[in-house]
Amino acid sequence: MKELIERFNRYFGGTEEGIRAFTAPGRVNLIGEHTDYNGGYVFPAALTLSTTVLARPRTDRKINLIATDLEIMVRADLDNLEAYRDIKWGNYQLGVADELQKAGYRLVGCDLMYEDKVPLGSGLSSSAAIEIATAIALVSLGNMSYGRDRPVDPVRMALISQKAEHNYVGVRCGIMDQFASAMGREDHAIFLNCKNLSYELVPVKLEGYRIVICNTNKKRSLGEGKYNERRAECEAGLKALKSAIPDASCLADVPVEDFERCKGIMEDETIRKRAAHVIYENRRVVQSVEALRKGDLVTFGKLMNQSHDSLRDLYEVTGIELDTLVNEARKVEGVLGSRMTGAGFGGCTVSIVREDCLEAFMDHVRIAYERTIGYPPSFYLSGIGDGGREIPLK
Ligand code: GLA
Repeated sequence: MKELIERFNRYFGGTEEGIRAFTAPGRVNLIGEHTDYNGGYVFPAALTLSTTVLARPRTDRKINLIATDLEIMVRADLDNLEAYRDIKWGNYQLGVADELQKAGYRLVGCDLMYEDKVPLGSGLSSSAAIEIATAIALVSLGNMSYGRDRPVDPVRMALISQKAEHNYVGVRCGIMDQFASAMGREDHAIFLNCKNLSYELVPVKLEGYRIVICNTNKKRSLGEGKYNERRAECEAGLKALKSAIPDASCLADVPVEDFERCKGIMEDETIRKRAAHVIYENRRVVQSVEALRKGDLVTFGKLMNQSHDSLRDLYEVTGIELDTLVNEARKVEGVLGSRMTGAGFGGCTVSIVREDCLEAFMDHVRIAYERTIGYPPSFYLSGIGDGGREIPLK
């Protein structure tokens, strides 16, 4: 931390006085993909990989940003945030600032320095980590201007960060990533109902097994439109199903049995496939949580595999990189399950691997992936950590 503080002062001048530090993690989703914006269940866990932001209030209304790995200073005006909507780096932060102000928070000018440890564009929610760290930092600094420190409401921070992503970044994401980054708990996954945001923290006890994340290292961006396209397809699916099930307010409301009975009314095959994925995936989340609670990791792993296969065949968001990682992972002894995690189109997979097979797993997957794809993957053995918070400096 000392080094970070020195660096902060190199960029912004001044002394340690007034500097505070905040952090928020990335996430891995264990199961429940593309269910969040359909009112369904998800089962993510916050990672120990995180973004840390050092923050110090200013006496004017400027908000200055820099990242340790980018070293481009963005200087913005808190009273004219709309003007920075299209900047390349900094729009997550300024989007959050703008949405906070629109929600009635009084912010103060400040200098912010980011250290991002969640690999960017990897599908591990580096963006949610930045958004939640920013939201907590800005509200905490602003709080003081009310004359007292009030607790920061993490669920509100998640909802406001999601809005920033919709309005600034243009991705109509669900609530999963921001919620996991704000509400994560060490060694627990969050069984979240995205319709009403009720949740339970479920202990992740993997006696003798580890969660291994593999990065395809394929560059991607959700802004490219495929994500929003899937979302629109789900909306079309719901509309079609409503003619048979008028009570359904979202796809996740539809039980598998009702879907099977009514799916014939969906004329468009693509739309039918998308809806089938969401409705079955939602049921798999409930089954997975049940299995994990009983310590039945074998069933948990099987459901993970089914989830990936459905994302590949019905939702069509995997691609050769993710499929190669998963196929190769499943060939290795001691692997209970392997699936893509996050939005897809590149990004990462998550696998449950027996501890004594970890090395064999990484060796096999690395070699086979590089042979097929032409460049190597990366592996992360991240733990499950806590959600966004202030880190005391003294
Ligand atoms: C991205 C979005 C989430 C969720 C996942 C897919 O990570 O930000 O809201 O929709 O994709 O499950």
